[in-house]
Amino acid sequence: MNNIVIMGLPAAGKGTLCQRLSQQYGFEHISTGEILRSEQAKGTKLGNMATRVIDSGGYMPDDIMIPMLKERVIASDNAVGFLFDGFPRTKEQAKHLHAFLFMRKQPIASVIFLDVKKNVAVERLLKRATIENRPDDTESAIVNRWNEYEQKTLPLIDYFSKLGLIETVDANGTTDHSHAQASVIIDRILKP
Ligand code: AP5
Ligand code: MG
Repeated sequence: MNNIVIMGLPAAGKGTLCQRLSQQYGFEHISTGEILRSEQAKGTKLGNMATRVIDSGGYMPDDIMIPMLKERVIASDNAVGFLFDGFPRTKEQAKHLHAFLFMRKQPIASVIFLDVKKNVAVERLLKRATIENRPDDTESAIVNRWNEYEQKTLPLIDYFSKLGLIETVDANGTTDHSHAQASVIIDRILKP
C-alpha cells in the first residue's frame, strides 16, 4: 500500500488532482472537507458544528478530526493506498497520521505539496463561488482560511521535510500541468 498526502492552500487544486489520480491508479481519495460537507448536508450534530466552523473559514478541532480520519482508514478495504486531501492540517494531526500509518505498516510514501500563488488561488476560489456556491468561498472566509493555513498547516512542510517526504509540484498552471508532475512522482513510488 502506498499512502500519499496532498497539501496546499485552499484552491491549490487538491480535490481536482486527487479525483484524477484516484481514477487513474485506484487510490482511495479521502477528503476531510468532503466528509464534513456530507455531514452538513445530512444535518447531523457534527454537520451543524462544521457549519459554524467551516463557513467562517476556521479549522475543526483535532479531537474530532483525528478519530474521524482513523475510522475512515480502518473501514476501507482499498489495497492500492490512500490520497489524503486536507488532512493533516495541524502538527497534532500530522504526528497522529504518521504514527498510525507506521503502526499499520503502511507508512506515508510521499507528501506532495501543491505550491500555488495566493493571487492564482483567490481567482480560482472566486470563480468557483459563482459555480458551486460553497459558503466558505466568500472573501472574509477565504482570508480566515489563509490565516489558519499559514499558522497551522504551513509548518507541516518543515515537519515532513525533516522526514524526507516533501515533493513540490508547481500548481499555478493548468490542471494538466499539476497532474503531469504528480504522475511522475506517483509512477516512481509505485514502480516495483
Ligand atoms: P477543504 O474542503 O479541504 O478545503 P480547502 O483546503 O480550503 O481547499 P479547497 O477544497 O477549497 O481547494 P482544493 O485545493 O481542493 O482545490 P480544488 O481542486 O477544489 O476544507 C474545507 C474546510 O473543512 C476547512 O476550511 C476546515 O474548516 C474544514 N476541515 C477540513 N479538513 C480539516 C482538518 N483536517 N482539520 C480541521 N478542519 C478541517 O480547486 C479549486 C478550484 O480551482 C476549482 O473550481 C477547480 O476547478 C479549480 N482548479 C483546480 N486546479 C486548477 C488548475 N490547475 N487550474 C485552473 N483551475 C483549477
Ligand atoms: Mg478540496
